[in-house]
Amino acid sequence: VKGGYDHFMLKEIYEQPNAIKDTYRGRLLVKEGIIRMAGIDDNLDRFLNANRIIVVACGTSWHAGLVSEYIFEDLARIPVEVEYASEFRYRNPVITNKDVVIAISQSGETADTLAAIKLAKQHGAFVFGVCNVVGSSIAREADAGAYTHAGPEIGVASTKAFTTQITVLTLIALKLAKANGNISTSNYQYHLQELELIPEKVKKALESDKHILEVAKMYKDAKNCLYLGRGYNFPVALEGALKLKEISYIHAEGYPAAEMKHGPIALIDEQMPVFVIATKKGHYEKVVSNVQEIKARKGKIIGIVTEGDVDVKNLADHVIEVPDTLEALSPLLTTIPLQLLSYHIAVLLDKNVDQPRNLAKSVTVE
Ligand code: F6R
Repeated sequence: VKGGYDHFMLKEIYEQPNAIKDTYRGRLLVKEGIIRMAGIDDNLDRFLNANRIIVVACGTSWHAGLVSEYIFEDLARIPVEVEYASEFRYRNPVITNKDVVIAISQSGETADTLAAIKLAKQHGAFVFGVCNVVGSSIAREADAGAYTHAGPEIGVASTKAFTTQITVLTLIALKLAKANGNISTSNYQYHLQELELIPEKVKKALESDKHILEVAKMYKDAKNCLYLGRGYNFPVALEGALKLKEISYIHAEGYPAAEMKHGPIALIDEQMPVFVIATKKGHYEKVVSNVQEIKARKGKIIGIVTEGDVDVKNLADHVIEVPDTLEALSPLLTTIPLQLLSYHIAVLLDKNVDQPRNLAKSVTVE
């Protein structure tokens, strides 16, 4: 069942090149310059006339929502709010019939997310579901939707669901950016081409696995870890920290790199591993100066960098390389080493990787 892998989580991490390909297959038509998604085409007016998009989700799916906020605003110029479903539903939120609500859920059964979309529908919002499980409650309750085609995700820690959610949301953002004229034809085409290359690049990123295991051995006994990223990679920092917490039970926090000086920098000493996502295109120089600040306080630095990086490599204790891509697509690559790192640390600590304590695969109670 585990296809020769020791755990479902590892199998699912390795399935990502194919899962992403399965998710864009038939939708991403690079030569034609078309993104084909019936759920969007059939409701294009709702999207194009929307005052804003409200994304509701929980956990890892919420992190995918945060990534999409950058893409929707940056490329399609549509205002986006990303909400924890549990907060949204009880906040007496302002929702109108000009809002589009996107609900993201791997299982399609998360109680809070389901309740949030029921509330949004009562207020006349148009609800679009991004689910992995076909025929699930959220998929059925939504007005329209697009499935991720990740295949069954068994490991409790979400991996391929996350990258395929980002894939679907990227397709939607690009499609809307084209439809509302906020992206140039050449930039649109460039994103399409680069998205098609992502599965091969994920494969490449997976090749660092042995090196990541060595890094994991060095930090497995840490009591706390910090994850930093900026822009598109800020949500990846949150997701990296969540993955470590949930399967290795090590306390970890994700932060936007620039927020460090507003508090978390006080935590940094020689005991503190800091995982810094510092890819070439996303505010690179600024992240490098954050890395210098960590080094000055003797923190241990593990950089997630673009292939061929020099500046972070010179400062960091370790670097893990990922292939170069467009900034908007970089979360699909930078996530990979952080998943592997959490996996290896949890295995080294002899934790139950696929079924961590206190957690359930689908949270059907609030
Ligand atoms: C993290 C994880 C959870 C889920 C969350 C939402 O690895 O598995 O945080 O992401 O419970 O679940 P779905 O996406 O099924 O709504």
